[in-house]
Amino acid sequence: MAVARTRSVALVGVTGRTVEVEADVGNGLAGIHLIGLPDTALSEARERVRSAMVNSHYPWPDARITVSLFPASLPKRGSQFDLAIAIAILGAAGVVPAERIVEPFFLGELGLDGRLRPVRGVLPSVLGAAEHGDVTVVIPSANAAEAALVPDVKVVPVADLRQLVEWLRRGEEPPEALAQDLLDPIPSTAPPAVDLSDVVGQPVARRALEICAAGGHNLWMLGPPGTGKTLLAERLPTLLPDLELDHALEVTAIHSVAGVLPPNSPMVNRPPFVSPHHTASAAAIVGGGSTVVRPGAVSLAHRGVLFMDEAPEFPRHVLDSLRQPLESGRVTVSRSAGSVTFPARFMLVLAANPCPCAQPQDNTDTCQCTPVVRRRYLGRLSGPLLDRIDMKVTVARSSRRELMADRQFVESSKTVAQRVLVARERAAKRLSSTPWRTNAEIPSTALHAEYRPSDEAMKPVTACLDSGALSARGLDRVLRLAWTLADLAGKDRPDHDETATALALWLGVDT
Ligand SMILES: Nc1ncnc2c1ncn2[C@@H]1O[C@H](COP(=O)(O)OP(=O)(O)OP(=O)(O)O)[C@@H](O)[C@H]1O
Ligand SMILES: [Mg+2]
Repeated sequence: MAVARTRSVALVGVTGRTVEVEADVGNGLAGIHLIGLPDTALSEARERVRSAMVNSHYPWPDARITVSLFPASLPKRGSQFDLAIAIAILGAAGVVPAERIVEPFFLGELGLDGRLRPVRGVLPSVLGAAEHGDVTVVIPSANAAEAALVPDVKVVPVADLRQLVEWLRRGEEPPEALAQDLLDPIPSTAPPAVDLSDVVGQPVARRALEICAAGGHNLWMLGPPGTGKTLLAERLPTLLPDLELDHALEVTAIHSVAGVLPPNSPMVNRPPFVSPHHTASAAAIVGGGSTVVRPGAVSLAHRGVLFMDEAPEFPRHVLDSLRQPLESGRVTVSRSAGSVTFPARFMLVLAANPCPCAQPQDNTDTCQCTPVVRRRYLGRLSGPLLDRIDMKVTVARSSRRELMADRQFVESSKTVAQRVLVARERAAKRLSSTPWRTNAEIPSTALHAEYRPSDEAMKPVTACLDSGALSARGLDRVLRLAWTLADLAGKDRPDHDETATALALWLGVDT
């Protein structure tokens, strides 16, 4: 009868923290006790571990088994500790050599038959383990490709408990050959199914999307039904370049924790597009959950686009909860178990009809809404939220001539994405000594200290500031937009033209 110790990883938000798992198989009434803040899933681990061991033909010790997970203060939730618990018990019972399980990390949920099931958050968990240097991490084979994204870690993918126990008993090196095959990360290279050339006419809205993509700005599209707002917004990601490696890892870690990674393409290397429905709960948008805190839509859209279609239909408190991430690029979710912070830097696109009746308001005018009703409808988008929007574009119905025009002359996403890339490279070069890569990320202080256009260029803005039409936050938005317009025009600094256009876009452009 003895004690054995091993390691696993707990997730706090998208950060992996080491958990020590200790098992003591000793004298006393036969039974198993788990210590260290177990929640329901962890208590169920007892049953899964017992069945998995018995069905893999290992004797279940007829003794008092105590399993302890620490630090006790870490909230340890979910089923990913099953494997470490089983291995610690097998070590204490002398089935596997106890000294061989001290160093490696074990992650995975056990099926009742001893098979290993994939778990969420493997990428951030392995990144957490990798902080200990050159480590070995044992994971379910279904998670192998995701774990392999972390360099300098020996990953041992296993299919079931028996396979793992045999490996530990034989004392060989990890099965590299098997591992390597499975480990080649498969980047998601599937071409996006939609293209900007699907949209005819709408030159102003198309240009607004290009500016959004180039500078990482937020956009509000206002217009009657059927004018192509949703069509346009869905095409914004096609204008964005692939994610750089560090950003791709951030996004993949969030998607992994949320459990939405597609099985065969572990690396998210395209900017995500997330479009929650207006009936979605606040927890689904900002993140939450009663036992396990999961990232919400704002975090799933990290480094990509969050599209709030029919924005006034969202409850006011949900819309207002976007204010914190829009300002700081992250979101803090507070729960009784503690608060968790997730990254949430996204481009926000809002779409809205001018009134709730969703009838055309052109010369066929069937809309009966009074001005008061219309005002109240759009009033659901609060001032502080709209203050954080860089551009407002009114989208009018395309003319018959536009809709009937030959579509082969319409610019494709590829052409526009090329201009966006050049503008982004200009901005990235200018910002190379800073932590920011796009103009939208430049904080207010730096903007005024280092990126102020000349007095001449500021003229259109000063007039608006004097009249009170432009708020302090609005001024920052206009300056950032002006820089993006300069980047798109290939200029070193914004001048009068760029600030005037930026101001017009901020105030709202009618098409
Ligand atoms: N400029 C356009 N180019 C090509 N198709 C268009 C255009 N505008 C509208 N359409 C067509 O009209 C349909 C409706 O467009 P979309 O759903 O984007 O409108 P919307 O502005 O989002 O309307 P709603 O306010 O009702 O959601 C599209 O599926 C598309 O077929
Ligand atoms: Mg729509």
